[in-house]
Amino acid sequence: MIELHHISKSFGEHEVLKDVGATFERGQVNFVIGRSGSGKSVMTKCTVGLIEPDQGHVSFDGRNFTALSRRDRKEIRQEIGMLFQGSALFDSMTVLENVSFPLKMFSNMSDPEISKRALECLDRVELADAGSRFPAECSGGMQKRVGIARAIAMNPKYLFCDEPNSGLDPQTAIVIDQLIMEITREYNMTTVVISHDMNSVMEASDTIHFVHEGRILWRGDRAGLLAGGVPELEEFVFASELMRRIRKAGEI
Ligand SMILES: Nc1ncnc2c1ncn2[C@@H]1O[C@H](COP(=O)(O)OP(=O)(O)O)[C@@H](O)[C@H]1O
Ligand SMILES: [Mg+2]
Repeated sequence: MIELHHISKSFGEHEVLKDVGATFERGQVNFVIGRSGSGKSVMTKCTVGLIEPDQGHVSFDGRNFTALSRRDRKEIRQEIGMLFQGSALFDSMTVLENVSFPLKMFSNMSDPEISKRALECLDRVELADAGSRFPAECSGGMQKRVGIARAIAMNPKYLFCDEPNSGLDPQTAIVIDQLIMEITREYNMTTVVISHDMNSVMEASDTIHFVHEGRILWRGDRAGLLAGGVPELEEFVFASELMRRIRKAGEI
């Protein structure tokens, strides 16, 4: 479980996060949703320590991460897998080298052990045959899967995915959502998915936090999301014509 307690963050005069509290559960896909610019990425960066919050703290299974020194954070950092916006693969490395990279950097494994583990991870995302390709030779969906394989290489307890579906067609997006759900259950990870894609939310979320102008305005699950009640949330959820039609048809 990951807990955010009273996180605030400003850049100059601009108060981006305002007293944010959140709880992300183990073995579940925890969504953070909200419009562009609402503060989702800053919230995630504060959670994993890429940005220091001005106030508040984050705990990983009861361990206060924020209070630790940079050196002492290392242990928890190595338990975190990240799938970045875009795929952020190294273009000059093959797919297999990309997945091996965190193992080379952070583990004490021998080269044969690293190759074996990297291949296992590629196999898990159904890319066992693609190891010798370069990222430029992979489709967008394949690149995301390589990113997922790399993120799980170190067997993380925590997985963060920032807009994992950006740039994908709807069908490929669903494959990625399902893969994230499956590996979350399989490895019993605490997974956090940042998204503004309602399809994904309806497909893959166990818990949902709605961020609006730097505050958590609502938290709940899919059923609660559709029940409505908070105007800003309804505006977000029913922004698409499809969702409006479904609602009008009385299916929600
Ligand atoms: N490093 C930074 N310096 C100054 N402003 C930033 C920085 N990072 C993000 N912001 C601002 O914080 C706000 C929230 O950004 P972000 O968390 O990226 O939104 P999103 O919800 O789309 O992920 C935006 O107005 C953005 O311009
Ligand atoms: Mg973002």
